[in-house]
Amino acid sequence: MAIPTVEINDDAVRIIDQTLLPGEYRLIEIRTKEEMWEAIKKLRVRGAPAIGVAAAGALAVEIGRSPASGAGEMLGELEAAADYLATSRPTAVNLFWALERMKAAARRNRERSSGELKKILLSEARAILAEDRAMGRSLGEAGAELIPEGSGVLTHCNAGSLATAGFGSALAPIYVAWERGKRFKVFADETRPLLQGARLTAWELGREGVDVTLICDNMAAWLMKKGKIDLVITGADRIAANGDGANKIGTYSVALAARAHDIPFYMAWPSSTLDLSLASGEEIPIEERGAEEVTTIGGKRIAPEGVKTCSPAFDVTPHELIAAHVTERGLIYPPYEKNLRQFAGPE
Ligand code: MRU
Repeated sequence: MAIPTVEINDDAVRIIDQTLLPGEYRLIEIRTKEEMWEAIKKLRVRGAPAIGVAAAGALAVEIGRSPASGAGEMLGELEAAADYLATSRPTAVNLFWALERMKAAARRNRERSSGELKKILLSEARAILAEDRAMGRSLGEAGAELIPEGSGVLTHCNAGSLATAGFGSALAPIYVAWERGKRFKVFADETRPLLQGARLTAWELGREGVDVTLICDNMAAWLMKKGKIDLVITGADRIAANGDGANKIGTYSVALAARAHDIPFYMAWPSSTLDLSLASGEEIPIEERGAEEVTTIGGKRIAPEGVKTCSPAFDVTPHELIAAHVTERGLIYPPYEKNLRQFAGPE
């Protein structure tokens, strides 16, 4: 798994510009909070855990350049930069989680010298990255048992290496099961409007030698009907306290189709995706994106000028449709209200 989705260096965060994949593999260096805001907004770096890691790295790099002489002044700069980065995208909670963690590290160390604080922030951002990688591996191990030999697995959007700091969430069980020698088929929904399934999931699974078949979104229910799909695994951008989960638009339709065909639907996510402050998925803010994402494909216009559009980037799958949540500490089954609180531990 050698995809360097996010790397945190002393003076820059290096990311793969995912808007160019699969045609071009280009690494870009982000040096300022403004550049990182743009990269997240434009989905150069995307996927819930990856944007949290990248934003944490950008904060550390931004503060690393600060001329502020005292840690107090630096703390003010960091909080302003974190609040600014938090406005880039609203749905994935991992972004806010990572920014909060950086702020907390700074507050705990406010008595240190500015030089020491800069080092602390850099190592906190790197710790967030390393933990995300490790969580991906662990949740992959927990979820691999769900994939039977010879089965068909459907996934939606990209919740793989490209969406995290390393191993992925929905694709992590697939990678682990494949690595252990199981053989099965993965069906990747293309995932309109921005085609993360076609451009990214098909690319990264193919690169690892996994047997992947790309389908258009509107083919999934039919393949279920034809007995090609045995289970569905997606990632998640935010999980509420009752187990409802937000993920890429179209996930809800897939979960409904899976239920209609009696196929288990799983959501895989690291603990940074859990938001117990929200009682249900009703409260999850859903990002609305530009009309051009609906009226164009790959920059080419496909709809008449002036047509009305709506473009929610995510939807919420109600917990009743989720057979289990796959996490770095194992599978979580209903009742979710109780079991998610137990998973999170004492506040
Ligand atoms: O808009 P994106 O590409 O950031 O949306 C990504 C998804 O919805 C993923 O499925 C989700 O973040 C889970 S990633 C591990």
